[in-house]
Amino acid sequence: MKKDLISNDIQLSPEGKLVHLLGLEGLSKKHLTHILNIADGLIDDAGNLKKSKALDDMSVANLFFEPSTRTRNTFEIAGKRTSANIINVDLANSATKKNESLLDTMHTLKAMQIDMFVIRHNQSGLPHHVAENLQGVAILNAGDGINAHPTQALLDMLTIRQHKQSFEDLSVAIIGDIVHSRVAHSDIQALKTLGTKDIRLIAPTGLQYDSEQCASVKCMDDIQAGLKDCDVVMVLRLQKERMLEADIPNEQEYFDSYGLTAERLALAKPDALVMHPGPINRGVEIDSSIADGDQSVILQQVTNGIAVRMAVMEILAGKS
Ligand code: CP
Repeated sequence: MKKDLISNDIQLSPEGKLVHLLGLEGLSKKHLTHILNIADGLIDDAGNLKKSKALDDMSVANLFFEPSTRTRNTFEIAGKRTSANIINVDLANSATKKNESLLDTMHTLKAMQIDMFVIRHNQSGLPHHVAENLQGVAILNAGDGINAHPTQALLDMLTIRQHKQSFEDLSVAIIGDIVHSRVAHSDIQALKTLGTKDIRLIAPTGLQYDSEQCASVKCMDDIQAGLKDCDVVMVLRLQKERMLEADIPNEQEYFDSYGLTAERLALAKPDALVMHPGPINRGVEIDSSIADGDQSVILQQVTNGIAVRMAVMEILAGKS
């Protein structure tokens, strides 16, 4: 599966201000650092999330056309913590089931004075299409097909920044189903923008990028070599919902060859972070003892998702 090039051009105003968040391509180090700094400022010294009144005059709609636990709920919590009026649109019982087009549904919700839409969809580029056709609202991409998951990458960068001195000197290994992963795509973009030079993508043939996409990163199939002395290990699940039946690997064989175990993690630096965007499949891409181990920051990633999503909403509202 090859990723189409989807332009994020319309997410910046002519003055370079963020008006939608569609993807991380096109955003500068200054943009990313600003979002991370605002998110940092929303966490107090004890690690607790603060509240703000930034969106107290705004309404936000969550539209999730794909299942989600982390992203949907942390957007809802982030909306509430910034004092927005936030609704989860019940798509299973909406007029889209009576053949209303997505854009007509969106125009209808906009007429209810919604200011911001958070959209997850299995179609790459769908949030971009909405942003092009619905004026006067902000669109936040909460994951589109295999294309992008920008807030996931931003919360991943915030988590790394809380533990490591600089992005420049890091060796980051991303293991697993790279080719179907919008998270990998956005993480690679964020790491490159923030200056990381050693990005290793570890996957079997079939789940790896093609040679063109591998040109600016290190694509490897040898997990031992890929993990050697790295600072951050990001593990991805097998995204079966985006595979053909024939492509789905045998889970036991996959774990035997590419699962993150204690023995394999020992090849990385002793203080290497173990990250996973979730949902995790224990015993498939990661051993349970590693998911729950001392090096795991998986649940910290979840909490950071609230701060990052609050920050992005405040910025799009012009309040930060
Ligand atoms: N990481 C992530 O997108 O998880 P959810 O599918 O639970 O939102």
